[in-house]
Amino acid sequence: MIRIAVLVSGRGSNLQAIIDSIENKYLHAQISVVISDIGDAYALERARKHGINAVHIDPGKFASKASYEAEVLKTLNSHNVQLVLLAGYMKILGKTLLTAYKDRILNIHPALLPAFPGLHAQEQAFKHGVKVAGCTVHFVDEELDGGPIILQKCVEVKEDDTAQTLADRILEQEHKIYPEAIKLFAENKLRIEGRKVKIIK
Ligand code: GRF
Repeated sequence: MIRIAVLVSGRGSNLQAIIDSIENKYLHAQISVVISDIGDAYALERARKHGINAVHIDPGKFASKASYEAEVLKTLNSHNVQLVLLAGYMKILGKTLLTAYKDRILNIHPALLPAFPGLHAQEQAFKHGVKVAGCTVHFVDEELDGGPIILQKCVEVKEDDTAQTLADRILEQEHKIYPEAIKLFAENKLRIEGRKVKIIK
C-alpha cells in the first residue's frame, strides 16, 4: 500500500476528500503523516480525528527555506513516504523537497492551468469573465503551478455566479479529481513524457 504524506496550511477539505476515499476503499493507500506549516490549520484537526499523525513544522523556527525543508524531509523519511500531496499548502517548494521527491509530488489547483496560476485563482478567473472554469491536478516542479498536468475538470460559469459560488462548484470537482489522480499514481498508471502525462489504461 502506497505511503502518502499530505502537506496543508488551512481548512483541509481536499485532505478530507482523500481520507474519505481511503476509508471508503476507493483508494488503496495510507496517509502516514499530515504536515502543516500553520499550527492551527483545521486540516491538522481533521487528520487527528481520523487517527492520522499530524505534525506542525513551524517555518519561523528555521533560518532558511532549506533548513525548514530539511526538517520536513526528515519527517517524510521517518514515515517512509512514497508520495507527497500538496493540498492547500501555501508555501512554494524549494530544491530540497523537489529534488528528494522528484516526480512524486502532486498538487491540486483551482483553475484550468496554465490559466490563472498563483493565489485566488477562482477569483482571477471569475473577474476575467471566463465561461468555463475548473481545476487541475499536476506534478509539482520548480515552476509555480507549472508541472505536467495529470487531470483537469471543467465547470460552467453561470450568469448569477459570484466568485464564491464559482469557487464552491470548483471545489466539489477538486474533491473528485484529486483522489482519482492519486489512484492513478498509486496504481503506477502515470508516465511523464516531457510536458505530457500519459495515462496507461
Ligand atoms: C483548494 O482550492 C486547492 O485547490 C488550493 O487550495 C485550496 C485548499 O482548500 N490549492 P482545502 O484546504 O483543501 O479545503
